[in-house]
Amino acid sequence: MTTLIRGGTVVSPTGRVQADVLIDGERVVALLAPGDTSLGSNLAASARIVIDATDKYVIPGGVDGHTHMEMPFGGTQASDTFETGTRAAAWGGTTTIIDFIVQRKGERVPDTLAAWHHKANGNCAIDYGFHQILGGVDDEALKAMDELVGEGITSFKLFMAYPGVFYSDDGQVLRAMQRAAENGSLIMMHAENGIAIDVLVAQALARGETDPINHGLTRPWETEAEATHRAIMLARLTGAPLYIVHMSAKQAVATLAQARGEGWNVFGETCPQYLYLSLEEQLGAAGFEGAKWVCSTPLRARSEGHQDELWRYLRTGGLSVVSTDHCPFCFKEQKELGIGDFSKIPNGIGGVEHRLDLIYQGVVDGQISLERWVELCSTTPARMFGLYGRKGVIEPGADADIVIYDPNGRTGIGYAKKHHMQMDYSAWEGFEIQGKVDTVLSRGSVIIRDDAYSGRAGHGQYLRRGLSQYLT
Ligand code: URP
Ligand code: ZN
Ligand code: ZN
Repeated sequence: MTTLIRGGTVVSPTGRVQADVLIDGERVVALLAPGDTSLGSNLAASARIVIDATDKYVIPGGVDGHTHMEMPFGGTQASDTFETGTRAAAWGGTTTIIDFIVQRKGERVPDTLAAWHHKANGNCAIDYGFHQILGGVDDEALKAMDELVGEGITSFKLFMAYPGVFYSDDGQVLRAMQRAAENGSLIMMHAENGIAIDVLVAQALARGETDPINHGLTRPWETEAEATHRAIMLARLTGAPLYIVHMSAKQAVATLAQARGEGWNVFGETCPQYLYLSLEEQLGAAGFEGAKWVCSTPLRARSEGHQDELWRYLRTGGLSVVSTDHCPFCFKEQKELGIGDFSKIPNGIGGVEHRLDLIYQGVVDGQISLERWVELCSTTPARMFGLYGRKGVIEPGADADIVIYDPNGRTGIGYAKKHHMQMDYSAWEGFEIQGKVDTVLSRGSVIIRDDAYSGRAGHGQYLRRGLSQYLT
């Protein structure tokens, strides 16, 4: 049951080599330099499948550490199910997702865990793990954190935003961080000052400013920078490792980069939307169109220079991971909930399918190296979330989650082009990528090849994660 990927360039964060990759069943068994006959002189003859990767890159499958399939949010539910969302991820070369279980005030954490297993089990095309959102930090939830670590859920998301929904006050944040410092888990933070934002939102609505652009105008960069600073200070106070999700403000990342420079275990994630899209061009689109790009943190003004700075921080290490924060809603009937009141537009953008392509375009544009692309999209998220060795690397013993990427191919993104997410529009309409996902393997099975999907719901397995492997 062997598969041989031959003739390609294997890329890792530390370099690129010409090597054939031999897979047996679900695992990688060998990387063979050209001319290496140690395992036989004609492996191709005995392999069940031979894949020619000449002139292509062979990289570890993408690890998207931030998705929300079927998430109940904003008075509705994210439109991708685990089945449709993981299939779309596969099309884009992502072979692992880590999705968020949601616990709200009054709900029991173990019940929410059971509910998310029920949603995902038997439906996923690729492997998946969970983080736990704690929207109601109390004694019982704090105790559950220890139990979840044993279940392979080793990261907990808290919200400094969304008062009355998921919001934790500073005391709750502090207590959860103290628990994380004890049990070794990672605190993920939605860092926006939600109390201040809610005042700005109410004032804007009172002035009759109801269009989607006001979503961004009422969440200015100061609200992200302030919360980021506070989260870092609380993490320092408690000794908990901290991972700040979906960062979009250059000032917030500057604060984070400074703390990283001082040697603290604080990390930042950004998403393709913050690198490419803006408040002026997308969120500020005429009429209600901008609702397509309402997400939090918000898209920021290009005139303020956030996008270029985020790319710079990706190059220099201020930011460690690119995830999608895939949280799709259809325009019809979902985004439309906010007609006449921008604060009722469900927050989220769909992009699980496009992350590898969009960040590869950064390689083409000279923003990051090929190696850094692999590091940001696969290897570091695997290490950050306790999956490395099995995911995020091509080496003997690792799961054979592999993407063959064609730098000479082209990918047109758009609703009528490449688009497999369960949404009635694309937030990435018109983007053209100078590269293409050619072939995707998940645990040794070919799931994308020749522009066709050959995976199946239920192939994807639950990943019991270890503690972060990225801490100093
Ligand atoms: O707008 C966003 N980011 N929606 C998803 C939920 C979250 O805060 O990550
Ligand atoms: Zn968030
Ligand atoms: Zn999110």
